[in-house]
Amino acid sequence: MIIAKTITETRKIIAHAHTTGKSIGLVPTMGALHDGHLSLIRACRTQCDYTVVSIFVNPTQFGPNEDCDRYPRTFDADSAACEKLNVDLIFAPDTNEMYPQQNLTWIIPEKLGDHLCGASRPGFFRGVCTVVSKLFHIIQPDVAYFGRKDAQQLAVIRHMVADLNFPVEIRPIDTVREPDGLAMSSRNAYLTPEQRIQASCLYQALTLARDLITAGQKNPDTIIQALKKRIENQPDTKIDYISIVDNDLMHPVSTIDAPVTIALAVHLGPARLIDNIMVDPNSQKP
Ligand code: PAJ
Repeated sequence: MIIAKTITETRKIIAHAHTTGKSIGLVPTMGALHDGHLSLIRACRTQCDYTVVSIFVNPTQFGPNEDCDRYPRTFDADSAACEKLNVDLIFAPDTNEMYPQQNLTWIIPEKLGDHLCGASRPGFFRGVCTVVSKLFHIIQPDVAYFGRKDAQQLAVIRHMVADLNFPVEIRPIDTVREPDGLAMSSRNAYLTPEQRIQASCLYQALTLARDLITAGQKNPDTIIQALKKRIENQPDTKIDYISIVDNDLMHPVSTIDAPVTIALAVHLGPARLIDNIMVDPNSQKP
């Protein structure tokens, strides 16, 4: 496994892999790797000839009062985990390598990027789209892997790739969860043991939504109220949003008669956690 910190070195290595006709897969991450990330890497390993993992805590997707500085950085453990999975190349630039000068050119997703997480975190998807397109230009992958855990990010990236004709296929990977249903996240590390127990209410709320839809409930507001109650039962929670949205542009639906995503973001102590599930009201009927 090679660890490359510069763009020049990475381009050389990738160019060589391309000349040998290998299919190149990319798993973009911000490090602090957990089993969720590892399932993306495993999929890449089995489906592509050459696996690249990028590890970069991208400052441009964090707001001024967000957790960029305290975001967990565990490079030694991350590279050991990648080595174990036979990753071919880790691209781990520092901020100066990725942003050597004031950045004046941005990719801003319209319509998709301004609600849900985009509303709570202004500029977030501008930072994500810009860094992911930089990574695509540097690594030129044939395939790139993104988790459904970040459903809006996945939708934004899919649209960006289609709109801007990036020659890369986006493959989504299902959310990996803890035994109590909590979606794995690098930010779970911020939780105290008590908050960690409370955190299972997010997935419980999502499964409650699925049950209500399966039972025939079509009114999003009724479902959202039930989920609010379930989450607010836990003392340290503060709901950012709960929304029932369509699966393409992720805009709120007025009635549930087609597949939807139930998406939520909840502050729990120092952590802001997000999760979602997709439900198809029609496929659940007997
Ligand atoms: P990060 O939060 O490190 O996540 C990297 C990838 O892992 C994302 O595609 C995310 O959806 C996926 N992932 C995280 N938790 C997961 C889980 N429990 N199950 C399955 N997949 C999971 O997302 C980012 O980094 C950044 O925004 C990035 C795309 C790297 C751009 O900076």
